Amino acid sequence: MSQPRQILVTNALPYANAALHLGHVLEYTQTDVWVRFQKMRGHECYYVSADDAHGTAIMLKAEEKGISAEQHISEMRKFHEADFKDFYIGVDNYYTTHSEENRDFSELIYNRLSANGHITQRSIIQAFDPEKNLFLADRYIRGTCPKCKAEDQYGDNCESCGATYSPLDLINPVSAISGATPIGRESVHYFFKLPEFSKFLSEWINSGTVQKEVSNKLSEWLDSGLQEWDISRDAPYFGFEIPNAPGKYFYVWLDAPIGYMASFKNLCEAKNLDFDCFWNKDSTAELYHFIGKDIVNFHALFWPAMLKSADFRTPTKVCVHGFVTVNGTKMSKSRGTFINARTYLDHLNPEYLRYYYASKLTNTVEDIDLNLEDFIQKVNSDLVGKVVNIASRCSKFITNESGVLSSRIENEALWDQVTGVADSIANYYENREFGKAIREIMAQADSVNEYIAEQEPWKRNKDQDQKQQVQDICSLGINLFRIILIYLKPVVPAMAEAGEFFLNDKLSWESIRKPLLSHKINQFKPLMQRVDKDKVEAMVSASKEETNPEKKASSGPLSVNPIANEISFDDFMKVDLRVARIINAEIVEGADKLLKLTLDLGGEKRQVFSGIKASYDPEKLIGQLTVTVANLAPRKMRFGISEGMVLAAADEEGIYLLEPDSGAKPGQRIT
Ligand code: 2FM
Ligand code: ZN
Repeated sequence: MSQPRQILVTNALPYANAALHLGHVLEYTQTDVWVRFQKMRGHECYYVSADDAHGTAIMLKAEEKGISAEQHISEMRKFHEADFKDFYIGVDNYYTTHSEENRDFSELIYNRLSANGHITQRSIIQAFDPEKNLFLADRYIRGTCPKCKAEDQYGDNCESCGATYSPLDLINPVSAISGATPIGRESVHYFFKLPEFSKFLSEWINSGTVQKEVSNKLSEWLDSGLQEWDISRDAPYFGFEIPNAPGKYFYVWLDAPIGYMASFKNLCEAKNLDFDCFWNKDSTAELYHFIGKDIVNFHALFWPAMLKSADFRTPTKVCVHGFVTVNGTKMSKSRGTFINARTYLDHLNPEYLRYYYASKLTNTVEDIDLNLEDFIQKVNSDLVGKVVNIASRCSKFITNESGVLSSRIENEALWDQVTGVADSIANYYENREFGKAIREIMAQADSVNEYIAEQEPWKRNKDQDQKQQVQDICSLGINLFRIILIYLKPVVPAMAEAGEFFLNDKLSWESIRKPLLSHKINQFKPLMQRVDKDKVEAMVSASKEETNPEKKASSGPLSVNPIANEISFDDFMKVDLRVARIINAEIVEGADKLLKLTLDLGGEKRQVFSGIKASYDPEKLIGQLTVTVANLAPRKMRFGISEGMVLAAADEEGIYLLEPDSGAKPGQRIT
């Protein structure tokens, strides 16, 4: 094993104004697995995190709740800590950026930047809400796009035509906070002179600190020229006041990464650790930040430049991951796939998700899809069907006897094979190639299951002469199960702990080469239950119900379902829409959503399968008029040929069949 290393690890600090969701859980799982692996390998590794507690959004949220910002962030911190804990995220310290340590470090760093001539001030004009007496960030201003005249656009860009502009250029701008018309107001802001670090940063991002695709993106930004970074906000603002600048506050993104230092400092005080040894300019300790791809500029440009100027060490690596999609698309509240961490925990075992995420994680910035069908299938087939199965098949032959494992390894080649991949699995973990680690581990589990199936201990056990051999086979099975569980321990720590009790042994990386011989084990209890599909469905339903109805009403249908790409009039005229009468409607055996409709198009009959079963009783449809696409090419479906399509408005909440006004005749063309 390599020399012990000193390692400090962080994940992105979640904002203290919202619940954690499964996107957060991806990052914390990735970080936690990596940290657990480092600790298992005997390194001195610390993992710190905190709530990101400052900024206008948090101030407004507290106001909305009618409580102080301090009270609000302390409530949120409790929720976040509980979610972390229940997902087995083993942070060594969970703190807040609203702490004295963070104030001290923020002032110290700012004073050093300032002393080095890296801070400048100038007056800027910004949108100001005269009713709230508050400067408005772009996202708090709505108005009509000056270019395409689309209404209700954000302050800095138009979602309809893609134009970017200053919020003061919007037509009829309104403050999203008070509804007042914003005015332009001048105020002095403080800037960090980022462009002075261009050369340093272009070397830094190309020195193995970030993934290749990330350094490519950063190089593009560097090539197009860095801008000075606005690090101040005017009162009222929930944050730290800038030294010698009354009424000016540090922008939340200035003190957020400094929160990594503050949380670690707080841990150092509690545990009597040497803070400087991790943060001094010449530190030999390693520093890793795990973050999502949306906040790369803060971590790989602003942050290293600030550390450099302030004479601290810079990060060893910024490890960037992609976003989570659910069932192939962005998490969606109406589909019930915007799933909060707590909603998941209310229904399902956290280790299912830890395992699933690990099995899909790579060291690239690609998005990770949580496909719920695949999730059920993978967890059940791998963890239950392959891993737990080894122990459950072998243990009864041991514990029904003495409960003591054999004194020999029955098949040295298999033992060497399974233990022999330890280094390659360790490399995968080290390089954040968790998906590859899991595939290797499952390949070993497959080999062990094949061995047991070939040896058929259940048959041999009927023969008195083969009793010892059964003991030897099953003892090897249990020993190999132990190795597989050691490999999986960073991913499924609770399952590993239950395994430790069963094996009566501590699962450590250095014990991989040491089999348990003549060793007493405990009674086997299943270490993991199968994922229950009904519970997954219940979680999705619960997530739908949690959707804030007010928000939904204000976002309107367009934001849920954007308008498709434009087509020409000629394209539209190709579609032959006709009035049709439903002359028969029936349930389709074996189909969850379909009804089989017989349509009359004015003499011509058509059979159409339509996914409207959830909203319509077939009998009640008979006789109703509707609209059909008459010239749609016939489609072969599982239950027969569909010769057209009926039109309906549909979303997650309901299906509404279109019906022409009374008097329309079957077969009439719709123009
Ligand atoms: O994007 C976010 O959720 C931020 N709260 C992350 C901050 S990370 C660090 F800089 F504190
Ligand atoms: Zn526009």
